[in-house]
Formats: sequence, C-alpha cells, structure tokens
Amino acid sequence: MSADAQKKAAAEAALAYVERGAVIGVGTGSTVNHFIDALADLRQDIAGAVSSSEASTERLRRHGIEVLDLNEVDRLPVYVDGADEANSLLQLIKGGGGALTREKIIAAVSQKFVCIADRSKRVRVLGKFPLPVEVIPMARSYVARELVKLGGRPELRQGFTTDNGNIILDVHGLEIAEPIQLERHINNITGVVTNGLFAVRPADVLLLGGPDGVETLQAR
Ligand code: A5P
Repeated sequence: MSADAQKKAAAEAALAYVERGAVIGVGTGSTVNHFIDALADLRQDIAGAVSSSEASTERLRRHGIEVLDLNEVDRLPVYVDGADEANSLLQLIKGGGGALTREKIIAAVSQKFVCIADRSKRVRVLGKFPLPVEVIPMARSYVARELVKLGGRPELRQGFTTDNGNIILDVHGLEIAEPIQLERHINNITGVVTNGLFAVRPADVLLLGGPDGVETLQAR
C-alpha cells in the first residue's frame, strides 16, 4: 500500500467525525486533499467549511462546498488536518505546506482536532522534520540569529510567501524534548508570527493510515 493510499484511508476515516449540520474546519496538504474530495459527498449535510489556506478554499469551492469566514462562525466542533510529524502525546509539527498560522488559529477555535496522516509521520521525538516558523519579512535576520541560539539551523524557504504575505524559516537540527516550552519560546521572539509546533493545543485524535488499516490514537 503506497503512502498516498495510506493518507487516503486516514482521510476517509475522518468522515466519521464530521458533525452533521455544523461547520467543519479543513486544513491543508495532500492528506487533507483526500479528505476534501471525500467530504464532497456530505456537502448537503454540513453547514459549510472554514479553511486554512487559499489552496484548500479553492478545492472546497470546486466541490460546491461553501467556505465561510471564521469570524462569522461561533461553533466549530471538528477540525481535520494533516501533520508532518506526530508524537505519542499527539503533539505535532505542521507547516510543511506553509499554512501553519491559519491552521493554528482554526485548531485553537475547534472543539476537536482530528489529525490524519500516514504512518511514516509517527515519531518518538519531534524535530527530524525541519520546524517551520512564519516570520514578518523585516525580522528575518534577527529571528534567524535567535533560532541559532536555540541550537537550530534556520533556512529560508526559497521562493515561498505565505497566504499572509510572510516568509518561512525551516529550522533544521532541533531535537524537541519539551515541545510546549519550545513552542512558547519561539512564539515569543519578536517578528515571529507563529511556529509549526502544535503542542500547547495538540490533536485530540490521530488517525494513522498504515499498510494494514487505520489506527486510531486518542489524546490521554
Ligand atoms: C500544511 O501547512 C501542513 O501543516 C500539512 O498539514 C502538513 O504539511 C502535512 O501535509 P501532507 O498531508 O501533504 O503530508
């Protein structure tokens, strides 16, 4: 079974968490694209979606799913999104697609965050995947120097601008033993919009597609 088939299986398993009659939160990435395609069959049963990126918004609209402004939504029971890494506490690294800030906002609003991924994303310690940090462009050099002090090797994501008009520094070489502390610390560097650690607000459910089916992990 290919990694893509495992992503698709996890995405389809997430349909069981979609609350009928409510707005659904939708993330970004290749796994979420499978989820959006599967969600099309339920479009009459949901009140619309809020989306974490222009790319997902476009795909949702192509399927005839209404995309709402998050500010107009007072209740978001479920958010479905992918991840680049996940540990046993369902703490995540996200932002490989560069949509981390909007993803973090929707995750914060949601009552239940359902993460979908293939099994290769499961790790013991976060940090092998370079940690994305969204930065206001004029703060790039300052933030990079601060990240070096933390033991990381920041690299500018070339030719990439976020949906919010900012840059991404991908930080290599971090072994993240204390994800909550590091998430807070990096977010406190002036010029950082947010970083791709989802530890203060981890996932509540992780659906991991593997060669022998989809495994469900719940937050303890
Ligand atoms: C987007 O910014 C990311 O957070 C994605 O959710 C993450 O990169 C996973 O992407 P894939 O589903 O494409 O692996």
